[in-house]
Amino acid sequence: MVEDLAITIKSEKEIQLMREAGKILSQVHDILAKEIKPGATTKDIDIAARKAIADFGCKPSFLGYNGYPAAVCVSVNDEVIHGIPSKKRILKEGDIVSLDCGVIYKGYQSDAARTVACGKISAEAQKLIDVTRESFFSAIKYAKAGNHLYDISAAVEDYVTPYGYTCVRDFVGHGIGREMHEDPQIPNFHQKRRGPLLVPGMTLAIEPMINIGRPDVVWMDDDWTIVTEDGSLSAHYENTILITEEGEPEILSLVQPV
Ligand code: MF3
Ligand code: CO
Repeated sequence: MVEDLAITIKSEKEIQLMREAGKILSQVHDILAKEIKPGATTKDIDIAARKAIADFGCKPSFLGYNGYPAAVCVSVNDEVIHGIPSKKRILKEGDIVSLDCGVIYKGYQSDAARTVACGKISAEAQKLIDVTRESFFSAIKYAKAGNHLYDISAAVEDYVTPYGYTCVRDFVGHGIGREMHEDPQIPNFHQKRRGPLLVPGMTLAIEPMINIGRPDVVWMDDDWTIVTEDGSLSAHYENTILITEEGEPEILSLVQPV
């Protein structure tokens, strides 16, 4: 099969704008994580997201995207992705809350997700959150010029499988730049081929969505919220990264702790 992908290679100038977008999104996530506490509604999180994004002079990339009604996706427990904020949804002690958010800075996008604990959570839930995050870091070791895209995909699955966890198969990571979703699609599980060659200047959103139970997911009646079919907990971790000339990728949407 012949690949016909339009994977954009960003110029230094574009990369600089994506760095700025990412740095802002990282800070937005830090602000949102602090809002996760028992008694808060998921709508409160959206209000905080809209304010933070505006305060940084950015636009929320999710708001209005295919009609999505909020600036952030807030997915609780067995909700995998695309939870719509609601003033009726009150967070409680022990919940795990996946926050997925995107910003546009001077025409360039950044996309990132974190799963956050609401108060004290079970050891089982914490382990899922940790392993999901670690699977991202393990996988991006393969995000190097000269490697192939699906090396990253395989590494996510290889990391989580020994824990008995599964990778959601119906949703994938993606290229990102002027558009939130650009080529290529980036599955979080083994592919039959190694896929497209990684080239410096590619910007990719790598986003493992990991379930404690089975990988199968279902759509809720709101046409957005995705939940695990078996009701098991799910976690999400995503960053926008840059393939560099040599060595490790640059994680654009995470201000590295020093
Ligand atoms: N961050 C999601 C992704 O990675 C996009 C959210 S969909 C939206 O694909 F509609 F909420 F924008
Ligand atoms: Co994404």
